[in-house]
Amino acid sequence: MDLLEVEKLKTQALTDLDLVDSLTKLEEFRVKYFGKKGLVTVVTKDIVSLGADEKKALGRALNEVKSVIQGSMESKKLELEKSIPSQLPEFYKSLPGTRPEIGHLHVITQAIREIVDIFKPLGFTRVRYPEIDWEYFVFEALNIPEEHPARDEWETFFVDISRDEKYGRTVITPHTSSGQVREMLKGNLPIRMLNISRCGRRQADVRHLPTFYQFEGLVVDKGINISHLKGVLNYFVKNFYGPEREIRLRPYDFRFTEPSFEVDVLCSNCLGAGCSLCKEGWMELGGAGVVHPKVLEYGGIDSKEYSGFAFGWGVERTYMMKSGTQIDDIRHLFANDVRFLEQF
Ligand code: DAH
Repeated sequence: MDLLEVEKLKTQALTDLDLVDSLTKLEEFRVKYFGKKGLVTVVTKDIVSLGADEKKALGRALNEVKSVIQGSMESKKLELEKSIPSQLPEFYKSLPGTRPEIGHLHVITQAIREIVDIFKPLGFTRVRYPEIDWEYFVFEALNIPEEHPARDEWETFFVDISRDEKYGRTVITPHTSSGQVREMLKGNLPIRMLNISRCGRRQADVRHLPTFYQFEGLVVDKGINISHLKGVLNYFVKNFYGPEREIRLRPYDFRFTEPSFEVDVLCSNCLGAGCSLCKEGWMELGGAGVVHPKVLEYGGIDSKEYSGFAFGWGVERTYMMKSGTQIDDIRHLFANDVRFLEQF
């Protein structure tokens, strides 16, 4: 091995490279010179075994030759890529692409739609009333006069707007019952209303949020009584939860219904046996009752001719009591954590 041979190697390589006209051939060229047994690789190994002086001289010459060849290879590559686009790696038209991730409806929107679908065949129509309303519709017209202690149960947010002479202060609706008298005042009888809306109360813990949803049913017609109420609630519960979930009505006190009830449903976990989730076998859904004659009168309806029933339940709580959901903290529903939401 001497300087001449090194020089010859360079000439040979550059001549070869001149003939390269595709990226495939360029790769073959690289292997021929720089592969494991490539010409340059072999010479490099030979030089290592020489005496110190020779090694130094030849080593330097070979390094120069290497960088010349590599530089030329680089320019060749650029030139090929630019001038012959078909030499670029093939584009596989039939290869499936990466699909963008598609979200889905929020679990509470799904629940609302399911509730609407269940009530629809019974003739209930979904309506919407203001989420910010006057105290009049929230309390007064529901037979809860100003200063009545029952108002405290609805931990109300007041809006800083001056008081209306007739309708009082402005509030964030703490329940959907405010839609009852508004619906009656429309003057269309009979009524089969499903009012679903966002509500607000000053509360926050594992079972309560300051913002939540309620659905409110109201039926007003001639000859309506408790058995209609019980039938409708039973129908809803069986359809929403399944045939094994019974309901029971517990006497309660709401000012806008008489008689009033709390509606309980058999526990999703123990079906009545009693467990750590429900304690004594039942879970509380929400209120219901026979519309108070005074409320009908506020709505301009003759209470001697017409009667009605109503119920109002939280959407989140109702949904959480479905078997298998295992949501133990209502706050998960609105924490916007995709890891939680994508499970529903
Ligand atoms: N509005 C009541 C609440 O938020 C629930 C309620 C009770 C609604 C009885 C009704 C009813 O329609 O008849 O606590």
